[in-house]
Amino acid sequence: VLAEKGNHRHFMEKEIHEQPEVIGRTVSHYADAFENSVHEIAGLDFRSASRLIIVGCGTAAYAGEISRYWFGSLARLAVEVDIASEFRYRDPVFLPGDIALFISQSGETADTLEAMRLAAAAGVQTLALVNTPHSTIAREASLVVPTLAGPEIGVASTKAFTSQLSALACLAVLAGRHRGHLDRAQEAGHVVSLLASPGLMVKALEREGEIEALAQEIASHPTVLYLGRNQNFPLALEAALKLKEISYIHAEGYAAGELKHGPIALIEEGLPVIVIAPHDALFDKTRSSIQQVASRGAHVIAITDPEGARALEGEAASIITLPKGSQLTNPLLFASAVQLLAYHVAVYKGTDVDQPRNLAKSVTVE
Ligand code: G6P
Repeated sequence: VLAEKGNHRHFMEKEIHEQPEVIGRTVSHYADAFENSVHEIAGLDFRSASRLIIVGCGTAAYAGEISRYWFGSLARLAVEVDIASEFRYRDPVFLPGDIALFISQSGETADTLEAMRLAAAAGVQTLALVNTPHSTIAREASLVVPTLAGPEIGVASTKAFTSQLSALACLAVLAGRHRGHLDRAQEAGHVVSLLASPGLMVKALEREGEIEALAQEIASHPTVLYLGRNQNFPLALEAALKLKEISYIHAEGYAAGELKHGPIALIEEGLPVIVIAPHDALFDKTRSSIQQVASRGAHVIAITDPEGARALEGEAASIITLPKGSQLTNPLLFASAVQLLAYHVAVYKGTDVDQPRNLAKSVTVE
């Protein structure tokens, strides 16, 4: 495949902007836009599952972490998420009724492949959520659930991540139906929101100019903190990873509720603290974290939605307002904003965005 950048400076930028199309394609694969339901998947039955084990590396593992909140709340399905290099060497416990899901863009990551072989050898059903259909992981899995992101060239994953999230959201809805925790109307509500995500993502990406304007300020700091609660916690981890990977700025993601257990000691005048703060059920708690770090001098950048923006007026130094999403679509929208932020910081610093130092697109050896 001869990939072209088109009008974009970098593949990463192109791939960020492809996301509305990519998530639309992935959701359309799993969901029926006339029935507002998700399709059955031959060979996949969550009814008798006792636990879902999710394994991946890097960004793929963070997609899994986010979906843990969905499988729990939509389907009451216990989920264990692990990074592949830990999972495969910790002599993992398998239980009757386990299903194991391996997430990989390339389908060639050595640790993820070996983790999958371990689960298969223990007699556990192995699902592979992969973006590369002819990859080794896809070939060896007992069942493939595809992401339809198309080839991803930028080393730092963007569209593959949101494509993984889109597919995982559909699988969580399927699990919710299988396990009797979603009725017809609830399922339709989730599917309608997922089908609306490409349009919302287009709107989110329109904030690029404002995000770019923050890049210079962030680029002058040696460290950046990202905070989020609930499903926004793993998204904060992914946001920090993106910034580290391409701008080489040290960044940490933290659960906002853990602030007082350590990271608050780092707060000093001007430290950029980026808070993922949609106006969801835990908004007030996130808001209080914002007040705590702002009162200690942090430069708070809140990424929120219109309702959150009104509440945070005067409390956060900078506010990026994304469209209002749902439990399942918010991580998609917020992901695009933190990707753009990392991208523009890196461009400002002049790093090699598509080929960051020391990193490989696919880690096929240990
Ligand atoms: C490398 C890439 C990351 C990716 C990770 C897992 O570290 O640089 O972007 O998230 O591998 O790759 P996979 O292909 O298994 O998703």
